[in-house]
Parts: sequence; C-alpha cells; structure tokens
Amino acid sequence: MMIRPELWSVKYSGIRKIMEKASKMESVINLSIGEPDFDTPPSVKDAAKRAIDEGFTHYTTAHGISELRTLISEKYNEKYDPEEEVIVTAGAQEALFISLFSLIERGDEILIPDPGYIPYEQMIAMCGGIPVGYPLSESNRFVPEPDIIKELISKETKAILLNSPHNPTGAVVDRRKLKELIDILFSENIIIISDEVYDSIVFDNNFASLSEFDDVRDRLLLISSFSKTYAMTGWRIGYLCGDNNIVSQLKKAHLYTVSNPASISQKAAIAAILEAEKYVENMIKEYRKRRDILINGLNKLGISCIEPSGTFYAFPNISKYGTSEEFSYGLLEKHGVVTVPGSYFGSNGEGFIRISFATEMKNIKKALDCIEEYIQVDERELKG
Ligand SMILES: Cc1ncc(COP(=O)(O)O)c(C=O)c1O
Repeated sequence: MMIRPELWSVKYSGIRKIMEKASKMESVINLSIGEPDFDTPPSVKDAAKRAIDEGFTHYTTAHGISELRTLISEKYNEKYDPEEEVIVTAGAQEALFISLFSLIERGDEILIPDPGYIPYEQMIAMCGGIPVGYPLSESNRFVPEPDIIKELISKETKAILLNSPHNPTGAVVDRRKLKELIDILFSENIIIISDEVYDSIVFDNNFASLSEFDDVRDRLLLISSFSKTYAMTGWRIGYLCGDNNIVSQLKKAHLYTVSNPASISQKAAIAAILEAEKYVENMIKEYRKRRDILINGLNKLGISCIEPSGTFYAFPNISKYGTSEEFSYGLLEKHGVVTVPGSYFGSNGEGFIRISFATEMKNIKKALDCIEEYIQVDERELKG
C-alpha cells in the first residue's frame, strides 16, 4: 500500500458537507463559522505591512523570535522560560499536532472530550493512537466529570486533551473543578494537553488556565493561539508552552515540519499583544451582547441552551425535534440558516446543534425568527 494505513481511516469533517450544500444556495445566514467575523485589528495589519517594507521576510529562529516568546512567557507570569520552554507555532493546530505526534506510541490511548473539537480524533488516529471520548453532558453544563474520566483511564492512557473554553459547547471549567481533575490525572501519571485557544473570549470571569497549577508543570503542554482572540485565523500563528523536559523534544518535530512560523505573522502577533487590547475588549463586549440575545431567544422558543461562559458558540438541545442532522439540514433547506449538527463533534453531541454567534446581530435575530418558524411547523407536524 502506498499510503500509511493510519491515513485511510482519517475522515474529513462533516462541516464541509453542510457548507458545500449551503454554498449552492442563494442567500444563507451562516451560523456555522468557527472564526471571528471581525477584521484583524488595524495596528496588527500595520505591523505586518511594516515587517514587509522593512524586509523582515526571511527565516527566523525555528521556535519564534525572542521578543514574541518573551511576551508569551509574560502572559503566564514568566512560568515558562522564553528561551527553552516556548515554541511559536503555525497556529494552535500545529501545536496540537506536534504534541500528539511526539507523545503517541502506537496503541496509546488519548482521552478527548465528546463532544469536542473535530480534529482531535483525526490527529490522534493519524499518529497511530486511539482516541477515547470522555462524555460531556448537558446536565453537568458540559464540564468534564472527574469520576467518569477516572473510569476511562487504562494502562494505555498516555494523555488527556482538555479544552476550556470549550468548542462546541462554550463551557468553561473553573478553578475548583480543574483541581479535582488534576488530582486524578496526577495520580495516574497522565500528560495533559490543555487547548486554551479561547482563553480571552470569556464572559463570566470563571476561566482558569492550567498554567496556574504548578504541581502539573512537568506534564503539561499548554496551547493557545492568536487566531480567535485577535481575529487572526488566516495568519496561522499560535504557541505551545511546557516544561523543557518535553518541549526540547517537541522542538525537533516543529523544526522539521514547519521550520519557523511566518516571519510577518510573528511581527503581527507582537503588535497584537502590545497594541490590540482595546480592540479585543470591544469584540468581547459585542460577543456578549450577541450571546445574551441568542440564548434568551432560544430559551423563549422553548429550546433549552446552557449559557456559554466563553467562546462564540452555543450548543442548544434540539432533541425533541429529531436528530442533529435532521434539524440542521431541515433548517438549511427550509430557511437557509446554516448550523452544525452536534453529532459531528462526537456521538455525545447527538441531539444538539452548534450555533456560532461570530456573526452580526441582525443575522442572529433573523436566524431566531427562522428557527421559530421552523419548529412551529415541526410542532404542528408532531401533533399530527
Ligand atoms: C478548540 C480549538 N483548538 C484549536 C483550534 C485551531 O486554532 P488555530 O487557528 O490557532 O490553529 C481551533 C479552531 O477552530 C479550536 O476551535
């Protein structure tokens, strides 16, 4: 066989399928988007233009320019040595991949949230590992349950992926719950990969970074990104921090795959940290307004939806109207509103849909009207 067998089992995301259908329709309201609808802050764009004009367009140090690594280290109160323990990556996606690639030996089990970010499962499979979903339930506000995780740990468990704030549910794990989780993982000698790409898009002040827990420092890989916070998804710039023990090895995977993250994006990222604070504050204020309108609107329609504490996603329960796919496709076909079936994020996402509020308020309001009409017809049909 020409191609390594692990790749045969890797699937494209179902989101592509529904987007393809939507792209053939005339006018749609797209609530499936996984990125900010805001433009990249002007100061960030200016810094990139300056970098180009000044000829900062060549290779850089593989793990990123020193000024950027220092700023990242400062974000975590200098807990990570900017020289040894920070890698600037081509988005969080690269950071996730080099972490999994470096950790997984064939047959290792990696615990992942179900529902959860779609690429986790596929990346683990590509690396020869076995993804094991830990269920997140609406009744527990989609927060991981330490007892359930404990039961899923086996001799083969190498690592766990935590994602707070969480895509697709918007759940945030508070400090107390993280401590409970860590206590279990610590006793089992498990590596923690903490995907914190939505760490700045939080509404309720309950977010805690895993970096705050010194006792797990030597087995934690902390991943974040400029993509969501600064509306910079296309710049492909993120980072990974961790103990030199592990990071010194990960650096080789990074070096021999991407060489270095784009020089221009690195200059842009510096400007983002230093100059875009106000811009980010305003984006978050706007997300909060949209969240409130969306969640109130859904609840008024009798659709239960846990209020997301972070991200720009809501994950309403539509199970009384059929399966996730039926609901999402029905809503698209009848009203041109694009959402993502919850089942695409794992079997525990069945009965839910993901709605992104990274779109203008007028679209959210229109979509709520469409959902109202859609379920009224559905309810009439249900009554027979
Ligand atoms: C949970 C999560 N992790 C990682 C990523 C990837 O982010 P990046 O654009 O930095 O690669 C995303 C993007 O949607 C995400 O939702």
